[in-house]
Amino acid sequence: MKDFINGLPKVELHLHIEGSLEPELMFELATRNQVRIPFESPEAVRAAYQFTNLQSFLDIYYQGANVLIHEQDFYDLTWAYMLRCKQDNVIHTEIFFDPQTHTERGIPFDTVINGISRALDQAKKELGISSQIIMCFLRHLDETSAFKTLEEALPFKDKIVGVGLDSSEQGNPPEKFARVFKTALQAGFKTVAHAGEEGPAQNIYDAIEMLGVSRVDHGVRCIEDETLVSQLAESRMPLTVCPLSNIKLKVFKTMAEHNITDLLDKGLCVTINSDDPAYFGGYMTDNFLAVAQAHPLSNSQLAQFTLNAIEASFISDEDKANYC
Ligand code: ADE
Ligand code: ZN
Repeated sequence: MKDFINGLPKVELHLHIEGSLEPELMFELATRNQVRIPFESPEAVRAAYQFTNLQSFLDIYYQGANVLIHEQDFYDLTWAYMLRCKQDNVIHTEIFFDPQTHTERGIPFDTVINGISRALDQAKKELGISSQIIMCFLRHLDETSAFKTLEEALPFKDKIVGVGLDSSEQGNPPEKFARVFKTALQAGFKTVAHAGEEGPAQNIYDAIEMLGVSRVDHGVRCIEDETLVSQLAESRMPLTVCPLSNIKLKVFKTMAEHNITDLLDKGLCVTINSDDPAYFGGYMTDNFLAVAQAHPLSNSQLAQFTLNAIEASFISDEDKANYC
C-alpha cells in the first residue's frame, strides 16, 4: 500500500502557500529580514503547534507569515513547496494565497504574486509540474477590504484562475461575500470557498447558491444533512478534503472517525489535500498514508482520489485527457 501511494500521481487542490512555511525557512527569513519571532528554534516553533480549533491555528499562522516581506521570500516559499510536490509525485497543484495577510502589513500585492508565480513558472519548466493560483479573501475582514483586494488582482488576471474564501468560518457566513463573489464571477474568475469545515452544512448550501462555487473546500460537515449529501453526489460537486488538517484542528477526534471514505463510498467527488502542511504534519503522501492506514482502501479507491482531483481541477477540458 505504501509503495502504491508513493508511486501514485497526485493532484493537490487545497494548499495555502503560507501554510507551507516550514519552521526552518521561517527562521532563515526572520534572520534575513530582521523580523523578531517569539521562538528560540525551529523545534520550539514545532512544539508550539498544538491546536484546539481553527482559530487557535489561525492566530499562530498569521504571525508566522510576518517573516515574508520581499518577492524573493515568496519565491523561496513557493519553490520549497514545489520541490516537496516533486518528492510526493504531485503532477498538478492549485495554490491558495491570502493577499490581505500581506497587503494589511504594507507588502504590495505585486510583490506577493510575482514571487509565487516566478517559482511556479520555474517548476513547470524544471520539474514538469503544472499549477494554478487562487486568491482567497479573509472572511474575518469586511466586504470593503475584499472588494479592494479584488480590484488589486485585476491587473494580474492572467496569473489568477479564481478566488476563494478562507479564515474563520464561524460568524463569517458565505452571504457576507455574495456581492464580491458575484463581481469576481462577472470578471471571469472561478470561485471556491471553505465551507463546512467548522461551520454548519448550511454554509455549503450557501457557498453553492450565493457564491457560485465550482468546488467546496473541506465540506466534511455535509454529512449532517442527508439531502445535501445526495445533492453533492448527484452534481459531482467536488470537496477538497484535508485529512491531517481535520485531525490537528479537532474537526474529527481520530483518523478512524474521519468521514472521507464514507463520502467516497456515497459517490461524492472527494479529493485528498494537505491544507497547511508545515503546520499539520504532512504533505500529500502523508495525507494519503494517514487515510489508508486508518481505513481499508483498495488501490482503485486510492487512485479514485487522483481521478476525482483531475475532474475537479481547473485544468482545461482539452488538457485533462493528458493527465488521465
Ligand atoms: N487558512 C489556512 N488554512 C485554513 C483552514 N484550514 N481553514 C480556514 N482558513 C484557513
Ligand atoms: Zn484551507
